[in-house]
Amino acid sequence: MHLSDHNSHAPLSASACGPLKGRIRPPGDKSVSHRSLILGLLAVGETKITGLLEGEDVLRTADACRHLGAKVVRHADGGWSVWGAGLGSLMQPSETLDFGNAGTGSRLMMGVVAGHPIVVRFDGDASLRKRPMKRILDPLLLQGAQVLEQAHDGRLPLVIQGSSEPLPVEYKTPVASAQIKSAVLFCGLNSPGQTTVIEVEASRDHTEKMLAYFGATIKSEPFGPHGRKITLQGRPELSPRVVNVPVDPSSAAFPLVAALIIPGSRVVIEGVMTNPLRSGLVTTLLEMGADIKLENQREEGGEEVADIIASYSQLRGVEVPPERAPSMIDEYPILAVAASFAKGATLMRGLSELRVKESDRLAAVAEGLRVNGVVNEIIGDDLKVEGGAVVGGGVVETHLDHRIAMSFLIMGLAAQKKITVDDETMIKTSFPQFQSLMQELGAHFS
Ligand code: S3P
Repeated sequence: MHLSDHNSHAPLSASACGPLKGRIRPPGDKSVSHRSLILGLLAVGETKITGLLEGEDVLRTADACRHLGAKVVRHADGGWSVWGAGLGSLMQPSETLDFGNAGTGSRLMMGVVAGHPIVVRFDGDASLRKRPMKRILDPLLLQGAQVLEQAHDGRLPLVIQGSSEPLPVEYKTPVASAQIKSAVLFCGLNSPGQTTVIEVEASRDHTEKMLAYFGATIKSEPFGPHGRKITLQGRPELSPRVVNVPVDPSSAAFPLVAALIIPGSRVVIEGVMTNPLRSGLVTTLLEMGADIKLENQREEGGEEVADIIASYSQLRGVEVPPERAPSMIDEYPILAVAASFAKGATLMRGLSELRVKESDRLAAVAEGLRVNGVVNEIIGDDLKVEGGAVVGGGVVETHLDHRIAMSFLIMGLAAQKKITVDDETMIKTSFPQFQSLMQELGAHFS
């Protein structure tokens, strides 16, 4: 693999357009896609995946699985197969695992590696090299892994020496993070004992669901008012499965908000995952007065999904409570865009985790709003956005962050003057069809 080289910026602009109309199906969920490849690596035999997100982040995880001994193939019909190396039988990779921009892929794979007697070097692009990995390494060290090399304070590039017999632990995560939880559970898979993770605020549960689906014995119980206690028995026999990846609600969020803020729009977004631990944005938009209907509710690939019908709505400002953050952590940039068009102020509380995403999203959102004439204020870990007519006309710095790029392009479709993002290239990490699907609905980019 070649280390990411990101020197060329590709600016893109969005300008006001007529009503958005039509029916689209955004790509598969990023979280489920990473996990389906990883579980495929850990099971022996053929795991078949349909609807895999073919974004750059997930392709990096596919490559990492190959380096660890799996055969990973994309078929002509768009389906994928993984022939796993099997839990306990991962191969020592001969090269650095370069995860590019992908926090989830790298952190989940650190957990997998930490539970195997191999030495692996992890690296990523300039954004990933800035992100904190200590929160992942701390529990993995307790489980018996060693960190042989690291940049300052646990940053990438780093080298992990995994353990042949990870210790059973009970670990309470310091922040609500599915990535920390998943790394600990993936490491614990190869432990002879039991691994327990406690989270005070429940984070997305795709790892638990998928481990159970592949045959692990795992229990999830309530812990306190909003938390979970998850217990995994080590050394399960994982069986290969068929995984159908549902549509990513974090990608669906962009056409959804676009339909709400562009007068006259009505858009149908098919097959969107409605897992309650991912649905904070829809809850918030409904409180803001959005005309959103869920139809055809059904189950696909072990997750609840629905078609979402969103129509233009005069939104009003609300207060978003901090305990809702884990269920919409990736959606605050696009919520801030929706809030900019609402009547009155929106206060989003408890956003400290936004500072350690692909960029410092709190600062990037506040600055993007400011350059487009939207009055806003960061108060501690909260963001207050004053809604009204959005002037636009700004150039937004995206800091290698796909969600900052997509959010401000959506803002440009409804603002008075065109909005430019300095670099659209990172959009391919999570939603490669963003431009073409939005154009199908009537969006203008140039
Ligand atoms: C993810 C967890 C979240 C989220 C990320 C995907 C996952 O991160 O922001 O985009 O798939 O586990 P944290 O666990 O750090 O909150």
